[in-house]
Amino acid sequence: MSSGAPDASVRSPSSAQSDNGEDRPLLGNSTTADNPDLEESMAKAQASYASLLNNLANRTMALAAQVGVILFAITTWVMLIEHPAGLFSYHPALQSLAIVFFGYGILVLQPTKSPQAKRKGQNVHQIFQGLALVSILGGVAIIIFNKKLHEAAHFATWHGILGITTVSLLVFQAIVGLLQAYPAGQKLLGGEAKAKATWKYHRALGYTLFILLILTPMTAVTSADWVLQNSSSLQRNVMFGGLALLGVGVLLGLNPSKMQFR
Ligand code: HEM
Repeated sequence: MSSGAPDASVRSPSSAQSDNGEDRPLLGNSTTADNPDLEESMAKAQASYASLLNNLANRTMALAAQVGVILFAITTWVMLIEHPAGLFSYHPALQSLAIVFFGYGILVLQPTKSPQAKRKGQNVHQIFQGLALVSILGGVAIIIFNKKLHEAAHFATWHGILGITTVSLLVFQAIVGLLQAYPAGQKLLGGEAKAKATWKYHRALGYTLFILLILTPMTAVTSADWVLQNSSSLQRNVMFGGLALLGVGVLLGLNPSKMQFR
């Protein structure tokens, strides 16, 4: 998919020198589509996907994060199968699925080096984050509707307040991220250069949101009445520990040089 952002291979030497990747959206131009040598372009695409898979399979921190998120999701689902709770069940079910998607969407990008890998990584990232957003919005809509059905107070706990704050910021992040990545949106932000200059903020808010996405279910696991009454302490420890492992695995895979605001 074309973004209109310049590809590293066609940038001038001076711009290539000053570009350390901080202000560059992961999306580039689809120059490979115009490449007459189809085989070479397909080989490059395969290498890009291989490098993304490599990010998941060959880094200790990524493996730890995946073990963590899978343990969290499976234990949540086991709790729900053991204690079916009608409409409410869809809330933890969808939120845990969303966290799996968010986790994988970040892990595939840690790190992306070549322009091709950045472009493919961006596509995979958008698919995962899109699925995550749909799941989390569905899960929040269900809990709000369920509370309305039972005439229960809204946003009356730390979990509820943190949850609605996180989801609101996520919607903002998704809208701005799409504007930054595509030419039509870049125009709205004042042009391609200005849009690219704001990319580092997307990355920073992304990691802040990631921390909120870990803390929100942690508050449910440690303090929501329904969870306390319908799970064993072992299940709660595994859910909490799984979330902590996901957080540590992703955050230790972070490249601090990419977080500078200069
Ligand atoms: C990032 C993931 C999550 C988000 C964004 C989220 C969001 C929310 C929100 C906004 C509410 C309040 C709705 C209202 O007051 O109208 C809520 C309630 C609730 N959530 Fe979650 N949730 C998440 C994960 C979970 C998980 C994993 C569980 C269970 C393991 C859970 C269990 C509950 C329970 C029991 C309530 C009702 C009690 C309360 O309001 O605190 N949530 N959630």
